[in-house]
Amino acid sequence: MRIALFSDSHTFSPPSSWNACFDKRAIGLVNYFYIRKHKHNPKYLEKVVQKILDISPDMVICTGDLTTSGDSPEFDLSCSILSPLVENQSFELFYVLGNHDYYVKDKVCYEALRKAFCYLNRGRFNLEDLPQSLEIKDLDFCFVNVCKPVNLFVSYARMSRKNRDFIINWAEKKTQKPKILVEHYPLIEEHPVLRCRHKLWGEKQVLQKLQSGEIDLSLCGHVHCPTQKLDERGRGEVIIGSATANKCFALIEYDENSDVFKYNKISVE
Ligand SMILES: [Fe+2]
Ligand SMILES: [Fe+2]
Repeated sequence: MRIALFSDSHTFSPPSSWNACFDKRAIGLVNYFYIRKHKHNPKYLEKVVQKILDISPDMVICTGDLTTSGDSPEFDLSCSILSPLVENQSFELFYVLGNHDYYVKDKVCYEALRKAFCYLNRGRFNLEDLPQSLEIKDLDFCFVNVCKPVNLFVSYARMSRKNRDFIINWAEKKTQKPKILVEHYPLIEEHPVLRCRHKLWGEKQVLQKLQSGEIDLSLCGHVHCPTQKLDERGRGEVIIGSATANKCFALIEYDENSDVFKYNKISVE
């Protein structure tokens, strides 16, 4: 089974209304014009889409941060670029949101997120339906949203009790199929103090399930540099990296005979 993964494309479009000047979107805009504009070129997301179609995997997963400030024009642009993936029925397609996709408590932005979420999951589930577990072919997946709007100068998230209990129950379920957790934030954090404004909090019990092997693989985004922390059987965590800043995506191949996951970084430069 082959799974293509991409993340953190951070597309940008001018905001939908002047309200954006008075909430966190204003920070997102400043951030975009001074930093992200020079890093995230949407043409590389188009290249990722084309390369995934060429590879024709069994499954495609996006681990969030499609947008810069979670506004409706940015979702429109992202969905338009990703539409060839939505329309190609030869593989499964899943999207979990990132913190930038649920950036502010604004009705228009939230509706745009809900609409994009449903579209990119091909109507299989709505935003409110997460967390969800789903067996697909030889693998057992758990899709979780840990993101919701936080204050102006941080990008952390907190694992809710509902999410934690759901993941732990799923991890403890007896099955022969390897278990793959899909959400936006890395579980393994090497610099928790330095990264206290950007990390996932309340993750410890879930991290223990990954370290004990009850969860085989954690697939995530948020950190833009592609990183993999895998053992010799391909168990551990894969941070996909930014499709537009790092011009790459990941292809994970699972061989059910050897029971090994193989990670490949695919460049689209
Ligand atoms: Fe990001
Ligand atoms: Fe993020």
